[in-house]
Amino acid sequence: MTSLAGARIVVTGGAGFIGSHLVDELVNRRRATRVTIVDSFANGRRANVLRWASDPRVRIVEADIRTEAGLGTVDDADVVFHLACLSARQAAQDPVENHDVNATATLGLVERARTAHVQRFVHVSTSDVFGSSQRTRVDERHPTRPATAYGASKLAGEAYVRAAHREHGLPTTVVRPFSAYGPRSHFEGDSGEMLPLTILRNLCGLPALVPGDGRQTRDFMHVMDLARGLATIAECDAAIGRSVNLGSGREISLGALAETVARLVGRPDLVPLHIDPRPGEAKHLVGDGRLVHKLTGFTAAMPFEAGVADLVRWFRGRLSTPQQILARLERRERVAGRSILPGFAAGGQFA
Ligand SMILES: NC(=O)c1ccc[n+]([C@@H]2O[C@H](COP(=O)([O-])OP(=O)(O)OC[C@H]3O[C@@H](n4cnc5c(N)ncnc54)[C@H](O)[C@@H]3O)[C@@H](O)[C@H]2O)c1
Repeated sequence: MTSLAGARIVVTGGAGFIGSHLVDELVNRRRATRVTIVDSFANGRRANVLRWASDPRVRIVEADIRTEAGLGTVDDADVVFHLACLSARQAAQDPVENHDVNATATLGLVERARTAHVQRFVHVSTSDVFGSSQRTRVDERHPTRPATAYGASKLAGEAYVRAAHREHGLPTTVVRPFSAYGPRSHFEGDSGEMLPLTILRNLCGLPALVPGDGRQTRDFMHVMDLARGLATIAECDAAIGRSVNLGSGREISLGALAETVARLVGRPDLVPLHIDPRPGEAKHLVGDGRLVHKLTGFTAAMPFEAGVADLVRWFRGRLSTPQQILARLERRERVAGRSILPGFAAGGQFA
């Protein structure tokens, strides 16, 4: 396959953060004429896909990938991008259901794709399968030792995808993005979500919450770059049967992230609060994107500061004010009996 134009494409998890940007990339830039979004809306948002609701090129199927209604969407697909998953935070609460969706349902989906003779199956995994990195840049040979149930369930999902390629010749590629950021991102507290949460807090005049000493490093890729990377990989025959890391190779500490956001929001005076790191959180996770570049020519284009400035503008342009968004989040966390925002009420605004 050299082009996605005209292909019948299924995007599981297409109403989520990355999935919805992938649909935008497929329809707007790759000229896809038939994209089916399959999403249970467990974590996806209707607002993410509203623009496609009456577009004949896009079909939105509200279904769980564990059901026949979800699986059946694959039957007449040429290409499947599999992004549907339950999150790291959900895994900490209910690892059994997390495994059921991220691993068992992935097996069900590859089986269906195999019998439907799908031409390309792109499985979106995660850098969390590595655990904490042992080298500065994590390449594809790095050992996979996940430190969380989420990383473990995603690794099991990957293994089923690789097995379907080796055993049955299903044309698969496993892609491991690192930390994605950009419009529509979640801000409920995973390390990859620290960026939007920090922007919201700073916009409300509250300091960043930095886990641990803030020296942990991550690789942040703008979601539009990530969506372009996924589409590029799907069009690359040399990527079939491979497991590839989709990182920018750019290492940014969480402390530096907090500093950048405070400056771009115009509140460099806000001194970050240090909170306990999440159990199992990796110290360093920075991707080596050289294999993907060699196979496909892809490199991330968005400079980090420009991407953060863009995200600040996006939050400023929301209908809800940052205060309303944070207050909603705080209410939800209270109902769930959690507190991920220490110091939040102490800010005096929403207590
Ligand atoms: N966000 C990141 O920084 C990041 C980094 C690395 C990898 N990833 C991977 O990218 C993919 C997308 O992540 P995201 O950040 O967009 O997450 P997301 O939660 O926004 O998207 C996942 C989507 O899957 C849907 N879903 C969940 N369970 C489902 C089910 N049983 N049936 C159908 N749909 C279901 C959710 O409603 C949601 O819309 C995931 O596979 C994730 O592991 C994300």
